[in-house]
Amino acid sequence: MKFEKRNGVVGRDVAVCCKMREFSVWKLLFGQAGAIGRPTDLILLGLILLIFFPVTVEAQNKSINRYIGLNACKSCHPAQHENYQKYARKSRSFKSVEKMKKGLTPDEINGCYHCHTTGHGQPGGFVSIEQTPDLKNAGCEVCHGPGMHHAEDGDPDLIVREVTLDICKRCHTEDRVQSFRYKPVIYAGSH
Ligand code: HEC
Ligand code: HEC
Ligand code: HEC
Ligand code: HEC
Repeated sequence: MKFEKRNGVVGRDVAVCCKMREFSVWKLLFGQAGAIGRPTDLILLGLILLIFFPVTVEAQNKSINRYIGLNACKSCHPAQHENYQKYARKSRSFKSVEKMKKGLTPDEINGCYHCHTTGHGQPGGFVSIEQTPDLKNAGCEVCHGPGMHHAEDGDPDLIVREVTLDICKRCHTEDRVQSFRYKPVIYAGSH
């Protein structure tokens, strides 16, 4: 247990590695229990965990195509960004909820975020105003999908261009969506 403190490996990992000593693969690699002193085994496994654990977590975070918010599109798409701020009511959609939330339960307010923010309830989407302030309004990505991978080097294959009316139906009523067929309403003041 002294080892646990020295290497900063949490108790759970120590428990896992103690179990692993029973596995035959472990024995294959490091010989029968006792061939190598126990503390040495543990230190070795501790090092392996310390090296590989952060790497896998980082790889996982990177592979999710997260929502990054409309300000991250500004540098490469300044015209769309400017129009959006000026003309799209979506760019002020968080305020609409703020205006009306008096008397609502936290659950009810959470329901509003489904349509009035970016990516709420989806991986890498809006969580709360404190944790994900850049996603508080319904931004470009409600129509174009999460933009993290595309924004890295502007690869057009990594963003949705074909914006279909089905995407609008996630938040707009059927009747309203029928009227979107008339351009330029499909752009919703975004372009
Ligand atoms: C994530 C939910 C969401 C999606 C998806 C979405 N919208 Fe919206 N849209 C909103 C919200 C919320 C508002 C109202 C913002 C406010 O005023 O607070 C809005 C407002 C609008 C408006 C301006 C208000 C109006 O009725 O004239 C238009 C136009 C519009 N959306 C078109 C579209 C179109 C077209 C699509 C699909 C290509 C689409 N939206 C997809 C949430 C969404
Ligand atoms: C299913 C998606 C959806 C949900 C859930 C939702 N809204 Fe909306 N909301 C919209 C859309 C779409 C519009 C724009 C309607 C339009 O004009 O076509 C809108 C418009 C509004 C407006 C009008 C803004 C204006 O300036 O005219 C307010 C205020 C508003 N919502 C508040 C709320 C609140 C508060 C909640 C939660 C109780 C909520 N909404 C839940 C989709 C949604
Ligand atoms: C309401 C849905 C909606 C929103 C929100 C939206 N777009 Fe679009 N966007 C579209 C549609 C529809 C097209 C046209 C797709 C096509 O060519 O068929 C498009 C096309 C584009 C294109 C391709 C070039 C062009 O102008 O046709 C770019 C770049 C783009 N959008 C960037 C953005 C950026 C940046 C934002 C946010 C500032 C944004 N979009 C917000 C619907 C939207
Ligand atoms: C590093 C610069 C960069 C950033 C950041 C960026 N884009 Fe792009 N985007 C590009 C380039 C470059 C293209 C290709 C332009 C062309 O082919 O005309 C493009 C194309 C697009 C297209 C059209 C795709 C197609 O198939 O033609 C859309 C939609 C788009 N971007 C949306 C966004 C959105 C939304 C964001 C923010 C979440 C964003 N972009 C952030 C550089 C960027």
